[in-house]
Amino acid sequence: MPEADYSFLSMDPTMNSNTGNKDSLATPSHTPQLQAFCEVVESRRSVRRFTDAPIPDDVLADCLRLAMLAPNSSNLQPWEFYVIDDAGKRKRAVKNCMNQNAAKTSARLIAVVARTDVWHDHAKQILREYPDMPVPKKVKDYYNKVVALDFLRGPANVVSVAKWSAIQVVRRIKGPIKSPYYTFEDTKNWATNNTALAAGNLMLALRAHGFDSCPMGGFDEPAMKRLLKLSDNHHIVMMIGAGERADNGVYNTQFRFEQDQFVHYV
Ligand SMILES: Cc1cc2nc3c(=O)[nH]c(=O)nc-3n(C[C@H](O)[C@H](O)[C@H](O)COP(=O)(O)O)c2cc1C
Repeated sequence: MPEADYSFLSMDPTMNSNTGNKDSLATPSHTPQLQAFCEVVESRRSVRRFTDAPIPDDVLADCLRLAMLAPNSSNLQPWEFYVIDDAGKRKRAVKNCMNQNAAKTSARLIAVVARTDVWHDHAKQILREYPDMPVPKKVKDYYNKVVALDFLRGPANVVSVAKWSAIQVVRRIKGPIKSPYYTFEDTKNWATNNTALAAGNLMLALRAHGFDSCPMGGFDEPAMKRLLKLSDNHHIVMMIGAGERADNGVYNTQFRFEQDQFVHYV
């Protein structure tokens, strides 16, 4: 296995340049956006009824832009967003969302989709669109070799078997090494993780723009995939209904269990 060198990731301007202007950049002793951030996070609720107010296209586009700024593995961006605006498709999509009010009353209905098959094309695209030319050798090697080895499975997972054996040896001899993806399920899990982070950003961005959302796992995925003409390499991570919160849009008081139950300082 080639040695994986991840050091360039922290130097990559596409991944760390969005730090805003110097005065607004938060530091531990200067947190100008903290209150606004808390207000956005704390006021987000799953809203199940929306008013008739539309979400303007430019607002939705900005929310999707912010969604796509979510952190994602190797910047491979394995996500897609299907905004279901066509009246006929929308009617069927609402039905596929089990006629939930959050879908039925939404101003926009969005399928948030993870792609298991784009890693190769996106690795190539990163090298084509890389902001610093010439592309550093470390970066080329990473996307041409490390990423390829991470994802390649071969027919009947034959490459995965070889990868698995090689990893056991390397781990024993050299110590910790990141496991590559061996199966389709591994890749689906990878794509889903990344896409869920983008979905989180999208819902917070909608809130920051004064709109609301409801994530929905309660939908018929095969039917929705047929409607959107999606392949086996598309996985609908969630549907999101979005719009302006109606007065009766929030069904219950928000609560969470105590942190102690979940947080382990080890
Ligand atoms: C992956 C996922 C699937 C969900 N599916 C549904 C759904 O199908 N219908 C629904 O009304 N809410 C759904 N929710 C919303 C949750 O019920 C809600 O987030 C939870 O009760 C906490 O409430 P809050 O979002 O208002 O804090 C889903 C949330 C997530 C993250």
